[in-house]
Amino acid sequence: MSLSGKKILIAVSGGIAAYKIHFLIRDFIKKGAEVQVIMTPDAEQFVTKLSISTLSKKPVYTDFYGDNGTWNSHVELALWADIMLVAPCTANTLSKMVHGMCDNLVIATYMSAKCPVFIAPAMDLDMYAHPSTKRNIELAESFGHVIIPAENGELASGLIGQGRMSEPETIAKAIEDFFNSDTKKTLEGKTVLITAGPTYEAIDPVRFIGNHSSGKMGFSLAEEASKRGAKVILISGPSSEKTDHKNIELHKVTSAKEMLEKVFEFYDKADIGIASAAVADYAPKEVAKEKIKKNDDHLTIELVKNPDILKTMGEKKTHQFLVGFALETQNEEENAKAKLEKKNLNMIVLNSLRDEGAGFKNETNKIKIFTPTEKKEFELKSKDEVAKDILDFVDTQLLK
Ligand code: PMT
Repeated sequence: MSLSGKKILIAVSGGIAAYKIHFLIRDFIKKGAEVQVIMTPDAEQFVTKLSISTLSKKPVYTDFYGDNGTWNSHVELALWADIMLVAPCTANTLSKMVHGMCDNLVIATYMSAKCPVFIAPAMDLDMYAHPSTKRNIELAESFGHVIIPAENGELASGLIGQGRMSEPETIAKAIEDFFNSDTKKTLEGKTVLITAGPTYEAIDPVRFIGNHSSGKMGFSLAEEASKRGAKVILISGPSSEKTDHKNIELHKVTSAKEMLEKVFEFYDKADIGIASAAVADYAPKEVAKEKIKKNDDHLTIELVKNPDILKTMGEKKTHQFLVGFALETQNEEENAKAKLEKKNLNMIVLNSLRDEGAGFKNETNKIKIFTPTEKKEFELKSKDEVAKDILDFVDTQLLK
């Protein structure tokens, strides 16, 4: 059983989604976990202690004070747990958690917990979109807590939008992944900004200049960084790659200029920047408003230089650890080392189109990594494995 012997403390707060907690408790117990439930006083309006204690096979606590003058120790509850899950987490409970407003058993237990904390928010769409909720979620993430984002759909108010608590299967998966992952959380608390994929530079409304990048390398890096505990901002050009990892925030862009703009929206927050995108170096000077007609035998398109996103990141670097890529076809090492220096990088990953199975489109890549003082060569591997090698190397550099 995948949760055998795990001690899961569930804190339920007062929202309609509380009814879903029954399914989750049953699932955790079936998988071998021990489940202890605590609730805010308002949660009792939505679910009963009896139904929950029947499923969890333990008494449910809602108050500091038990029967006959006993004391429900929040400290004992907190220290017992391997993980704490707050689900559903209302706007009120979230706000109390991040601001230390310790006026009930759930918050006192949360503040005494030393274990990882998972939060599954649930509220109406406008409350979820409110700047104060967004800030509170960011604060919770900055404490290292895992947010299991609310989903889109019909809400108790009858409105449709984002705010529904994640389905029990999604929450269970996040927790099982956590327990079953043997990946060390070396990037916990760090924000990693990754560029991926190609950029498309419009010629007219139907044509563009692009390249063969699929985005695979960048998405593999994003997945691996998030498995290591990082919050990932993934800025990708057009790509059919998908991700649904809760720690990856995907921003889709089309052109180099859009990618530059998006990168600098988040750059200050990033601890590590990784530029795996194949950015078009040039873009048409003018974009034709209408589809260009096939009149003459020749067509000349004037191109102008695109911004060099990574070079700008290097120039504006304050605390970031910067990783560039070099895609080369000749004088590979020399060119890669020149880019490392010119773009003010901490390390560069070289892939050469002369190596079979390396570079774009393939599921595989073959890389060499350079820092100003080191060089390391790797075999041909899947891009998922290459992402691990790159982040292992980053880990060792960050420890220096
Ligand atoms: O997407 P896949 O199909 O998986 O393929 C992966 C990949 C081959 C695209 C990837 O491994 C890779 O090599 N990416 C960098 C491609 C590239 O544009 O290399 P470059 O040597 O031209 O650029 C050097 C560095 O500057 C790169 O980090 C690039 O992202 C960055 N750059 C380049 C030009 C520009 N205008 N802005 C940039 O930020």
